[in-house]
Amino acid sequence: MQTAVVTLFPDVVEAALAAGVTGRALRDLKLHCATVNPRDFADDRHNTVDDRPFGGGPGMVMMVDPLKRAVGAAKALVPESAPVVFLTPQGERFDQRIAADLAALPGFVLVAARYEGVDERFVATQVDRELSIGDYVLSGGELAALVVLDAVARVLPGVLGNPESAPADSYMDDLLDCPHYTRPEVVDGVSAPSVLLSGDHGAVADWRRREALGRTWQRRPDMLLDRDLTAADRTLLADYIVKTRLNTLEDAHAPQ
Ligand code: ADE
Repeated sequence: MQTAVVTLFPDVVEAALAAGVTGRALRDLKLHCATVNPRDFADDRHNTVDDRPFGGGPGMVMMVDPLKRAVGAAKALVPESAPVVFLTPQGERFDQRIAADLAALPGFVLVAARYEGVDERFVATQVDRELSIGDYVLSGGELAALVVLDAVARVLPGVLGNPESAPADSYMDDLLDCPHYTRPEVVDGVSAPSVLLSGDHGAVADWRRREALGRTWQRRPDMLLDRDLTAADRTLLADYIVKTRLNTLEDAHAPQ
């Protein structure tokens, strides 16, 4: 996959990508990510990329021309069909489905701009898609671009060491993840669930599915709305709900 990030802070993007899963994807050539700095495409000796907003007000607005030339340079580094994606709080909310859609493309260009603004004529003419990573305002799009690249990289074929890891992640199956445990068996008097040590693979799979369904039901019930659970999932979730209710009752009646 060939990607490029248009950013005033290429060092930040490159340093963050070099670590962990994205770093390995880059080294294994599963992912390529170029950076392009709009400052290199300014046309004055101060390398100016922004100007005061028409109509007044605080902050600066990024000018069309340096950004447009930078995007042109970035597009030359990725496959011809690669869309230009602009990171902005005004965009469509990024999620696992969009990560999977992007991972199926041969590449894309991400544009990270300063938050105060970008001349709307750049967005109107150069951008194919606008994405937001959540309802909060970052000072620039770099962290959002890194979030998108990380989520995409981990679902690229062959990037995660264990090919089973990505599908087990939260959201890959539209459910939150189950809890995880490792050694030691007992931590501060709390044992790991015995089923995980039983060696019974079927029982372990059922436990994990029950916990994933139960957590989703407790923490993100919206994710279960309009969803047809299989009969097996309904049984597991019913088990979880009964167990939770019993625990609540026991807690309520426990001596203080
Ligand atoms: N730039 C600033 N805030 C952002 C956000 N929440 N998502 C994407 N890009 C942004």
